[in-house]
Amino acid sequence: MCGIFGCFLKNENAAPLIHSALKRLEYRGYDSVGIATISNGTIFLKKGQGKIDEVHKNINLNDLPGNIGIGHTRWATHGAPLQVNSHPHSDCTGKITVVHNGIIENFNDLKIELQNLGHTFTSKTDTEVIPHLIEETLKNKPDLPFEEVVQETLKRLEGSYAIATIFSQEPNKIVCARNESPLVLGIGDNGIYFASDIPAFLPLTTRALHIDNGELVILTADGYKIKNIQTNQTIERLPETVDWTSDMAVKDGYPHFMIKEIHEQPETLRNTFRLQEHYLDLMSTFLDRATEIFLVACGTSYHACLAASYMFSKLAFLPTYPVYASEFIEQYGKSVNIDSTILAVSQSGETADTIAAVATAQQRAATILSLTNTIGSTLTRISRVYIGTQAGPEISVAATKTFTSQLSVLAQLALRLAKKRGKVSQSEIDILDAQLEKLPDIVDTIVKTQQEKAKQIAHKYANSKLLFFLGKGISTATAFEGRLKLLEVAYIPSVVFPAGESKHGPISLIEQDLPVIFVCQKDDTHKTVISNIMEMKARGAKIIAITEEDDHEIKNLADDYLEVPKNIPSILSPIPFVIPLQLLAYHMALEFNHNPDTPRNLAKSVTVR
Ligand code: G6P
Repeated sequence: MCGIFGCFLKNENAAPLIHSALKRLEYRGYDSVGIATISNGTIFLKKGQGKIDEVHKNINLNDLPGNIGIGHTRWATHGAPLQVNSHPHSDCTGKITVVHNGIIENFNDLKIELQNLGHTFTSKTDTEVIPHLIEETLKNKPDLPFEEVVQETLKRLEGSYAIATIFSQEPNKIVCARNESPLVLGIGDNGIYFASDIPAFLPLTTRALHIDNGELVILTADGYKIKNIQTNQTIERLPETVDWTSDMAVKDGYPHFMIKEIHEQPETLRNTFRLQEHYLDLMSTFLDRATEIFLVACGTSYHACLAASYMFSKLAFLPTYPVYASEFIEQYGKSVNIDSTILAVSQSGETADTIAAVATAQQRAATILSLTNTIGSTLTRISRVYIGTQAGPEISVAATKTFTSQLSVLAQLALRLAKKRGKVSQSEIDILDAQLEKLPDIVDTIVKTQQEKAKQIAHKYANSKLLFFLGKGISTATAFEGRLKLLEVAYIPSVVFPAGESKHGPISLIEQDLPVIFVCQKDDTHKTVISNIMEMKARGAKIIAITEEDDHEIKNLADDYLEVPKNIPSILSPIPFVIPLQLLAYHMALEFNHNPDTPRNLAKSVTVR
């Protein structure tokens, strides 16, 4: 996730305005920033690594000339957060300049093709193929107007993008386009703006116009023109007035980042399928050859590791040890060795305990692999191979979208390993692959259909002094994560156990009307889970089930339930099943008027041990 903004102004200089608009988009990424303007047929460009204020202090982003310009604030996905990888990116001649938010899936093939044609690349980004490809199209079709050159070029791109480009030889236009990454126009009295998000231009205008997938936009002194990229049809669309405050706009109209990020999960999950195959293959090769594998993490990331340990063993027949990073050195610091492989998982890539565990293992010559949402973090720098989870910045302290992104990447790794190790039949793998790809839609359905019910259940049980979370098999990990969410944002004391363990102590706490949340995926644990539900019911517990929509047996036993679509393979179940638990925790927090984005005593990134 990155932020793009640009403007075609009537009189003023564009750069100071782009600078201030990018500040309002900084929540979308802050690894680097850049602005390009156009004046008298020349492109002027400044960019730098770091947060906007730091970069501005060093290079003054405001003094570029011209009333037309494009800008970018970056959240690194391909290529470390360095100066060379900062946007805008240019072609070989420096006449074409592009900003981009999204992921170009086929950039590697395009890059090789363009390099063979003599193009020189300066960055490691996927974006840089775009200006070079435009340059190439232009070479072959020099008579086409710039917007048509861009339109032709876009047909070759696979993946997601919101782009904007300027060309010094046609200095009176900006060409933008969108596919699966957000792009919105703002129509003001002093000019036209394009942005990733409305807050970027909200102080300038409230008249906004959303661009849809597959559309190209041409901004000129006469206004805007929208075309369908494939059919070339002109699209007539008028702006609408938005009545958001700046604070609401940053949250895209949601009252809190936590609920915004819960709703973002269909999109962030889709992004996890745009991972570079090459890295998934490389990491699964390392895992396949490993003698012993530790999955090391803290907090929510640890729960992703716990779920992954079931995925790896059930699918790929590969045993792994999930370990709390804070315990790793005490438990395995002496035994970890050259034959050990550590797969560290961390949203921030900076958690002190995770880094310390990894550093210890590294000193003892273990192989370090990692999964993180923050490319360029300490963890990426000390790993042999790392994969970015592509969830974009997560602002709410309680992790939601980064958890499901981690799970999706881990499931893809487990599937690759299963193939490599030949333990699972091709038809089973095909089914799982297909189900995995359906998850963004499934999650979308859950978010849309279960929110109101989660709110009602939160209200009904808000006075409970204690809650239980139980799950069996891979749902143990889901139950642990559901309970952590509730603790973090609603501060309700709660107990979590694998359902089978509940008989060995926790059941003594059960009394009349105590709510017990069961995560009930439909697999071979189903019968035992039903017995566990009966045990709890017999002692007066109220059962809240997270269940599949056609699981009438569970629904009939439960006092309340939240449901997910049917036929979810057990191995993938934590992704959809955790969504109702995230919603429940969020609404519980609201019952007590807690701000779920900034829970007391907690920090997003814990950099002390
Ligand atoms: C803190 C955060 C949690 C997070 C944990 C691990 O406790 O509040 O949301 O899960 O750190 O963070 P990491 O960045 O390593 O995933």
